[in-house]
Amino acid sequence: MAKITVVGAGNVGATCANVIAMREIASEVVLVDIKEGVSEGKAMDMMQTSNMLGFDTTVVGSTNDYSKTAGSDVVIITSGLPRKPGMTREELIGVNAGIVKGVVDSILKYSPEAIFVIISNPMDTMTYLALKSSGVSKNRIIGMGGLLDSNRFRYYLSQALGCTPTDVQGLVIGGHGDTTMIPLTRLATYMGVPVSELLDAETLQKVAADTMVGGATLTKLLGTSAWYAPGAAGAMVAEAIVRDEKKVITCSVSLDGEYGQKDICIGVPVVLGKNGIEKILEYKLTAEEQELFAKSAVAVRKMNDVLAEMKLV
Ligand code: 2OP
Repeated sequence: MAKITVVGAGNVGATCANVIAMREIASEVVLVDIKEGVSEGKAMDMMQTSNMLGFDTTVVGSTNDYSKTAGSDVVIITSGLPRKPGMTREELIGVNAGIVKGVVDSILKYSPEAIFVIISNPMDTMTYLALKSSGVSKNRIIGMGGLLDSNRFRYYLSQALGCTPTDVQGLVIGGHGDTTMIPLTRLATYMGVPVSELLDAETLQKVAADTMVGGATLTKLLGTSAWYAPGAAGAMVAEAIVRDEKKVITCSVSLDGEYGQKDICIGVPVVLGKNGIEKILEYKLTAEEQELFAKSAVAVRKMNDVLAEMKLV
């Protein structure tokens, strides 16, 4: 069974570790944080649910001691600051870039073969940073955003349809930003029926708009960034990898000509398995969708340029 490390024991990281334990995705989860005692405390708290919930995953906490993460198969990085109400994910780059780079370096010392799942924001840029600064092969660097955004899309669609989210299919591609993500309404279905046959254009537009600001809506309600869905999404990406599921999940990955883009990490549907990204699926987009994707890439690239200004890539 696999060993998974989650770096950052804040709301997202702790939720992620908890979902991994409850679903027994790994035999061991190591939760790392810089705050003295917090990861140990949260790990112990989770372990005290093990008997009542019936899971055998061991959760271990570590205050910045990366030797405990040695031999991890998958490492999920949630470190850094979350958004505050009114903030964009992009505004976090100055603080989070240095943190994410340091974490990747520390992890590689003990787990040179690990597959990375990046959740820290701005996620596409942090994924690009992890890729460029580490020299790790691109199949092992995966940004988690599209799965979260797609699940928010499915939620809002289910609300409009009056059905359960699990009966809805739909995906969001592009950047993981309020203005850069692209809910692919044309391809969304309710039990195989295109949602465009079931909902009027105005409703569909509202669903897409609500999806795009889904994270900001929660940040406003909670006073900080969301965690249940982001944490669960990180765990599901890890699950697809460690169980070699060959599951199609939208992730931020390095493109080399796919969707007309190069030298960028951005959200597209990929097949995830034991090697990380095993295949990039190239959907046939309409001219309008392709244009939105190109625009999204311009915005993501602009953030990546900040990394160069910071001399991090
Ligand atoms: C969100 O959208 C944390 O970026 C994450 O909630």
